[in-house]
Amino acid sequence: MQGKTALVTGGTAGIGFVTARALAEKGAAVTIVGRNPQRGEQAARAIRAEVPGAEVRFERADLSLLDENRRLARNMAEAADRLDVLVNNAGAIFSRRQVTADGLEATFALNHMSYFLLTNLLLNRLRAAEAGRIVVVASIAHRRAELDFDDLQCERRYSVRTAYSRSKLANVMFAYALARRLEGSPVTVNALHPGLVASRFGSNNGWLFRNAVKLGFRLSGAIGVEEGAELNIRLASDPALAGVSGRYFSDGKEARSSAASLSVEDQERLWAASEAIAAR
Ligand SMILES: NC(=O)c1ccc[n+]([C@@H]2O[C@H](COP(=O)([O-])OP(=O)(O)OC[C@H]3O[C@@H](n4cnc5c(N)ncnc54)[C@H](OP(=O)(O)O)[C@@H]3O)[C@@H](O)[C@H]2O)c1
Repeated sequence: MQGKTALVTGGTAGIGFVTARALAEKGAAVTIVGRNPQRGEQAARAIRAEVPGAEVRFERADLSLLDENRRLARNMAEAADRLDVLVNNAGAIFSRRQVTADGLEATFALNHMSYFLLTNLLLNRLRAAEAGRIVVVASIAHRRAELDFDDLQCERRYSVRTAYSRSKLANVMFAYALARRLEGSPVTVNALHPGLVASRFGSNNGWLFRNAVKLGFRLSGAIGVEEGAELNIRLASDPALAGVSGRYFSDGKEARSSAASLSVEDQERLWAASEAIAAR
């Protein structure tokens, strides 16, 4: 990774932080993104302290907002003429339905639209790299979902479980649709499930929900963030995966994603719907 550049969204905590630190250890110049400036600067300092000579910088952005993705993409494009690795990792779960300033349901906005918009806006920089890699952090939760194209914003009935699972299904479908568009180019894109990871995940919610998630992690034997970041790091940097694209990984190896995720028709429908939202 020496001489390469990487962008890790949600690189200020959880598996994103461990991913960013590992890429910095391998020699990449890394940008980490999160909303909280204290946490962000502290994370960058922690990486510099642990990895002598590490080139790390923090960019503050609320990626649930379309304009913030646009601003981040502009800043990244101005900072360097190529991007070697983009890890779309920032994600969250919302116990109650929230609507962003763009009028989008928050889970859809952050977990899916940010990945879609940021990646597309940075595609020319990824194409300018020798072999750009895009990592899409999805989840095994995608397996219990089906998209409802008449209600992508969960307006009719909101359930935290449904909204989250659908957003993660959208991640897998986005990766497949993008891989088709990148065929014949050196840029690769793959999706993954990191495992059940005891991170800060869920901590943006109220006390009860937050603690229920924590308890859930404990009772289900969740792994730590170091182990949880392993697939992120491999997909972002392992030479053995050079040229591998359009795949889904889980439990440390390539896996088959859900039947719903494999529908090319639905992948393209989602792409068109996302493009229309991004063009607003
Ligand atoms: N933990 C699990 O068991 C699990 C399982 C499957 C998949 N995943 C996926 O793994 C990814 C990372 O999760 P994690 O467990 O590492 O979560 P985490 O510990 O909660 O970390 C989330 C990161 O995303 C950032 N973030 C959250 N909302 C943001 C926003 N609106 N704009 C910009 N950055 C934002 C956070 O920083 P700020 O709060 O400062 O913004 C933090 O850096 C997510 O996509 C999640 O869906 C997790």
